[in-house]
Amino acid sequence: MLEKILPTQVASYETFEDPAEATLFPEEEALICDSVDLRRREFTTGRYCARQALARIGYSVPQPVLQGVRGAPIWPRSVRGSITHCRGYRAAAVVKVSELASVGIDAEPNLPLPDGILEAVALPAEQVMVKELLTDAPEVRWDRLLFSAKESIYKTWYPLTRRPLEFEDAVIDFDPADGTFSARLLSHVRSAQEFPRKIAGRWITGNGLVVTAIALSSASGSSVDSGL
Ligand SMILES: CC(C)(COP(=O)(O)OP(=O)(O)OC[C@H]1O[C@@H](n2cnc3c(N)ncnc32)[C@H](O)[C@@H]1OP(=O)(O)O)[C@@H](O)C(=O)NCCC(=O)NCCS
Repeated sequence: MLEKILPTQVASYETFEDPAEATLFPEEEALICDSVDLRRREFTTGRYCARQALARIGYSVPQPVLQGVRGAPIWPRSVRGSITHCRGYRAAAVVKVSELASVGIDAEPNLPLPDGILEAVALPAEQVMVKELLTDAPEVRWDRLLFSAKESIYKTWYPLTRRPLEFEDAVIDFDPADGTFSARLLSHVRSAQEFPRKIAGRWITGNGLVVTAIALSSASGSSVDSGL
């Protein structure tokens, strides 16, 4: 799924199961030694996906992917990347910084958000858009897709800025016809040189999931394939 919504410069790897051959380096193991089984499995397969994706851009010797401030994965110096996992799906995407500035991916089940969550993560205009889209195209859970798009924005934003970004800081607009979305950082968000105020992403549904991805260009600071 991810390959369909990421530009060719980005290497990705996804899996719908937890492969038996997925293992951790001792330094990674130390990060989850007190975690419950579900967390251990998603973390371990996420690292497995990361190593598979890294191999596709030339990092064929497996290496640990540790955890930085606020949980962001620590990639090799010349790499940016992103990891996601949800029930029945784990994935990673990586790109050389010589190719792109940042990448963010997120997967969620194509199911309604729990009660009250849409109101917590969506601005009033987004809530109206989601309700209209749910009426017009109910096969896509647009509430969950909105949540996923915002998670992808954060995963693209944080490694570049090292600053928090709240759900009410960006407004999303979906194009239901072509699998794209645009996002605009609102004026109260302190601008970051590394990050444009308007970016674009792609989305896809399938296998009971909604998946979103953002790839940020190095040169212009704009999104790849953005059309913005
Ligand atoms: C961190 C966060 C984005 C994770 O998203 P999620 O949908 O809960 O979970 P996912 O499985 O898709 O992603 C988890 C992975 O995100 C990555 N991640 C965690 N913190 C991160 C950060 N600060 N920056 C980049 N990636 C991060 C990690 O790789 C993590 O997996 P791991 O712990 O196994 O390494 C989310 O929990 C969060 O804190 N959101 C609040 C901020 C936000 O979304 N703002 C909206 C701005 S518009």
